[in-house]
Amino acid sequence: VKLAQALRQGTVALRDIDGGARDARVLLAGALGVDASRITLMADDDVTPGDVTRYQAMLARRTAGEPVARILGQRRFWGQVFKVTPDVLDPRPETETLIAEALQGPVPTRFLDLGTGSGIIALTLLGEWPGAQGVATDISQAALNVARTNAHDLGVSRRLDLIQSDWYACVSGTFDLIVSNPPYIGADEMAGLSREVREWDPEIALTPGGDGLSPYRVIADGAPKYLCPGGRLMVEIGPTQGQAVAQMFRDAGLQGVALLADLDGRDRVVTGRKA
Ligand SMILES: C[S@@+](CC[C@H](N)C(=O)[O-])C[C@H]1O[C@@H](n2cnc3c(N)ncnc32)[C@H](O)[C@@H]1O
Repeated sequence: VKLAQALRQGTVALRDIDGGARDARVLLAGALGVDASRITLMADDDVTPGDVTRYQAMLARRTAGEPVARILGQRRFWGQVFKVTPDVLDPRPETETLIAEALQGPVPTRFLDLGTGSGIIALTLLGEWPGAQGVATDISQAALNVARTNAHDLGVSRRLDLIQSDWYACVSGTFDLIVSNPPYIGADEMAGLSREVREWDPEIALTPGGDGLSPYRVIADGAPKYLCPGGRLMVEIGPTQGQAVAQMFRDAGLQGVALLADLDGRDRVVTGRKA
């Protein structure tokens, strides 16, 4: 079978899925173990029956509603590949807004990532700042194990401390920068999430219960104790939470509190700094 033919079959199989053509291409690359950008160049290559069987199994999982990153066990973020398992949130492209903002500021000596999940935030920042030291926490030991694997694979594990902690509970010392993308979906919004999100992301990564704002209160209130003078706090938010979270930052005594939008123009990040 020629690759082009396998790809055509995949595109047909996923025709009812939003973005199905792209998924068919990415999954074929995954089945063949090549980069998705090479698929077009390989159109005339032969694929083995084993490759086709593997591809068909992936297409069947996708048709049944499983997200591509779950099928492949990996997700590309800020140009690097991260392992994802059922124990971690599938990283979202919106989180690149937080990364871009963090990179605008001065390079920190030491930073803290609260609720690190697969580690995308801490590991991306360590990659961009070769002199920095990171501490990353999660309440989930299973998530920390994924972050540890990713840190190792990306070659930054020596500069990262992974700590199991309920927000700041087991954290010590002070930081030039604190970042977090905490769970923020309100309990009453959970039913409205797409099936792909509800069924495949861990509940603890999606919602803290209640109005979804409780992690921000803890993170903002603790920031003055854990930030160095002039240190920055930066969190990802849901698009409707900006005003409430900005007020928590001000109530905690942080200065220069600002709201930043993602590429779709929705409020996505709140920042502030210690005097
Ligand atoms: C929205 S996910 C973000 C994961 C990752 N930082 C990212 O951006 O893809 C939130 C993370 O916070 C963790 N978490 C939930 N409650 C926590 C708590 N009380 N203390 C620390 N981490 C917590 C979850 O396990 C999950 O990994």
